[in-house]
Amino acid sequence: MICKVTNKKIKPFMSFGRMPIANGFLKKNQFKKEYFYNLEVGFSKEISLFQLNNHPKPKQMFNKNYPFFTGSSKGMISHFKSYANWVKRKYISNLNYLIEIGSNDGTFLKNFKNTNVKTLGFEPSKNVANISRKRGIKTINQFFNFKNVKKNKNLKNKIDIITAANAICHIPDLKSLIKGIDFLLTRKGIFIFEEPYLGSMYKKTSYDQIYDEHIYMFSVSSIDKIFKKFGFELIDALEQKTHGGSMRYVIARNNIHKVNSNVKKKLKYEIKNNIHNLKGCLKFKKNCEQSKKKLLLKLKNIKTKDQKIAGYAATSKSTTILNYCGIGPEIIDYICDTTPEKINKYSPGMHIPIVSMNHFKKNMPYAAFLFAWNHKKEILKKEKIFNKKGKWLTHINL
Ligand code: TYD
Repeated sequence: MICKVTNKKIKPFMSFGRMPIANGFLKKNQFKKEYFYNLEVGFSKEISLFQLNNHPKPKQMFNKNYPFFTGSSKGMISHFKSYANWVKRKYISNLNYLIEIGSNDGTFLKNFKNTNVKTLGFEPSKNVANISRKRGIKTINQFFNFKNVKKNKNLKNKIDIITAANAICHIPDLKSLIKGIDFLLTRKGIFIFEEPYLGSMYKKTSYDQIYDEHIYMFSVSSIDKIFKKFGFELIDALEQKTHGGSMRYVIARNNIHKVNSNVKKKLKYEIKNNIHNLKGCLKFKKNCEQSKKKLLLKLKNIKTKDQKIAGYAATSKSTTILNYCGIGPEIIDYICDTTPEKINKYSPGMHIPIVSMNHFKKNMPYAAFLFAWNHKKEILKKEKIFNKKGKWLTHINL
């Protein structure tokens, strides 16, 4: 295996086995042609980077059928509003032009409407890009990479802020990404992005964060080291609650802005907790294996009592849990979800039927596996009847 940034050889330290596309919800007649790959992870000691080995090509995931819509969660809508307000509060005096990478349905950028800030989104999936355009948000339906970015000569060194959320870890070629950022940003320009945090994944053993779209699980140590290689520096790092624990990284050109003391503090924390080295990976591997055993036992105990189990929310994350642990329709009867594009299809790999929320209300199971555990608060608030009648379960301690 080759590190995608240093191009040096590294050894994969763990495999989650044969895996389908995480968001590849499919119809029965597509079962035979389903694509699988081996989900393996490795770690570059040089830049502390946790990464996938093989992964499907981005076009296999982000296309006209991409079924993920940021606006499907109230919690995320409100998070993006406060993210946008934070950007405005901190940077508005120098902010004329902002670009978002992976702008999805425009949930973040719509917060800049009715301001003087010009915005532009880069979104590779046509269906979600079109939703954003319908909302009046200027969107380029292309991947954000140097090749596509440099076509926009008029934007060279004109962008004050580039943002992203849960998008940078989806981009395999980080060098091309950074070249694109370098092309666009003004001298004082800032790049802000937030991603699921490796330290939170270790803490919770939430291995379901690992799937084809998440090519990297970043940490403060890795981001610090990667950007240093390209003339940029990490100037701040702020923890976020989203996706079960994320980190917001603030990047600038070298020696232009003050570096916040958070950076040093977080780097120290990561060294103390083995988040920057292979030791942390090996401990995580052991924890995953134990978690799998524990989960299968928990599910078996419910099934021997002939009780029904449903899945709640057909998340991308659930694909890793179901396929790694070998959980199919013999254990989980159905998975309910709010996304029309997923309903009446089957889950990738294990082929559990995806049904509407109405089906859940009419066929309440004994237990519901909360696959969207990161939206627990929002979901428990609306599932008052099931809270009383049924039992929630997850593979992690929340
Ligand atoms: P998320 O955890 O953001 O997904 P992923 O693992 O794919 O990043 O959850 C999004 C999915 O969860 C989406 O299919 C919609 C579904 N969902 C519900 O069905 N009901 C809900 O109340 C919420 C918040 C999400």
